[in-house]
Amino acid sequence: MDENLASKPPKIVNDSNVIVRDGKQSDKDGINYIISQGFMEDVLFIIGKTNDVEKDEKACLSMVNSIKKDVKDVLVAEKNGKIVGICEMKYSNTKDNDDNAAKEFSLLTKLKCFLSFGMSEHLLKLEDGECHLNLLAVDKELRGNGVGKILLHSAHQEAIRRGFRKIFLFVYLENFQGKRLYESFGYLPKTLFIINKYFAFGNKGGYKMEKKL
Ligand SMILES: CC(C)(COP(=O)(O)OP(=O)(O)OC[C@H]1O[C@@H](n2cnc3c(N)ncnc32)[C@H](O)[C@@H]1OP(=O)(O)O)[C@@H](O)C(=O)NCCC(=O)NCCS
Repeated sequence: MDENLASKPPKIVNDSNVIVRDGKQSDKDGINYIISQGFMEDVLFIIGKTNDVEKDEKACLSMVNSIKKDVKDVLVAEKNGKIVGICEMKYSNTKDNDDNAAKEFSLLTKLKCFLSFGMSEHLLKLEDGECHLNLLAVDKELRGNGVGKILLHSAHQEAIRRGFRKIFLFVYLENFQGKRLYESFGYLPKTLFIINKYFAFGNKGGYKMEKKL
């Protein structure tokens, strides 16, 4: 049996107010805001958390802005002219533009960045013909309304259009909701990583999940 038939197909509710399109350079601020909101805990793990939520939010956005300068291979979901979700892909035939050096941060932060991103690239190395769903995030206020599913579906369509037949992603062990979402789309957990606490992913570990397109 085709392994991708093992799970129930996801229910994708088409919201006519939500459009998905290619992200442009001028979307950078909106995209980076959604990324910093969606991955705040991970970024704070690298730069260090204070007790000041506002300060942490600003520092997190600043870190994301310093890494993500170019908008590349990002789909955005837009609702009433506002970016409400993003999906960033990595394709084996295009070059990664992220600047993982985090130049304007402390030496310790730079070191953590270097180790974390290096580890991530090593674990999630792209083979020919593969693509990687690197980031998926939806505005906090709008989660649970189907935007994530619309983006995931669009990302698969785009990958197929580009000729890719296999996609993978990384999901934290404790992200039950994310894992369930991916399973409903036919992703299967292939490798379990238990990751050392020195890396950005903390000591949480996670699954590399794969799907045939
Ligand atoms: C994961 C994420 C992108 C999902 O986006 P979303 O727009 O909320 O997802 P959807 O509404 O399309 O729903 C996906 C599933 O999760 C459930 N769900 C999603 N967000 C929820 C929320 N805030 N509350 C309750 N249920 C939620 C939905 O019920 C749905 O499952 P179901 O249809 O089987 O019930 C979003 O939660 C997010 O941005 N999380 C933070 C970043 C992150 O963890 N990204 C994934 C990293 S691997």
